[in-house]
Amino acid sequence: MSTPTDSKAKLSGPLSDHVDARIVTGDLDEAIADRNAIVQLDPDHPGFRDAEYRRRRNQIAQIAMTYRPGDPIPTAPYTDAEHQVWSVIWQALRPAHEQHACREYLEALTRLNFDDHRIPQLREVNQKVQAISGFRLEPVAGLVQPRVFLENLADGVFLCTQYIRHHSTPLYTPEPDVVHEIVGHGVTLACPQLAELNRLFGEAVKRTRSAEDLERLSRVYWFTIEFGVLRENGSIKAYGTGLLSSAGELKEMHEAELRPLELESISHETYDPTHFQPVLFCASSFNEVYERLRTFLTAW
Ligand SMILES: [Fe+2]
Repeated sequence: MSTPTDSKAKLSGPLSDHVDARIVTGDLDEAIADRNAIVQLDPDHPGFRDAEYRRRRNQIAQIAMTYRPGDPIPTAPYTDAEHQVWSVIWQALRPAHEQHACREYLEALTRLNFDDHRIPQLREVNQKVQAISGFRLEPVAGLVQPRVFLENLADGVFLCTQYIRHHSTPLYTPEPDVVHEIVGHGVTLACPQLAELNRLFGEAVKRTRSAEDLERLSRVYWFTIEFGVLRENGSIKAYGTGLLSSAGELKEMHEAELRPLELESISHETYDPTHFQPVLFCASSFNEVYERLRTFLTAW
């Protein structure tokens, strides 16, 4: 089947599987937007012409908009076709994870024990993640401002979209969907060290006052929590959520130029979120990721 994913083989091509624009800082001095600001579907969105999909997206957005923190998270309505999307994605991801994911991620994935054929509900994921790290996923209707997204991490809250990509393009989504959220962030938050780093990011962001400092922390988040790689027994492995939620990204990461994990220089490194990352920052071990980030963030 031809999908936009097929055309992404080159580093210069558009990033296909997700663009986590929450980390992309824009006009940072503007007032913090409501966490449930809904993103309209663009005319080139795969679901734009599917009235039933749009109705369900709105229904799922309503869950977020009426959700009050602490309440049980209502069930998101997924169709059989959408559960099938989840299934198709796992057919590609299981072998890709075996090959390219770091050990700590694989251990956390085992703890969450997903059903390959059914999209889990956020409250099910929460039961396990909260018991491991204290983190919980809370539904949001769409993309939120970077400061809102990052500051919530300080409180152990991951603001999480609940919709899934359109079923016509199982390996493509123009926005982070529940696959990226759960398979990427949900699993890494079931790793105690990565959960701690997420919390430290949130605390560091809370201490920032300038737009420039927020942008620097957002870049470090992007190149580590979202796109981090490390060496494990001589191989390059992923611990970044953007890589781990896409079989295509996991394959493509081996084409990137690797640079050492120098967080100060990373904080000045610009990136284009709509394309594959031509540069990734590689730690010598998982422990180096943990120690360096913890030191950097607590000193911020
Ligand atoms: Fe993400």
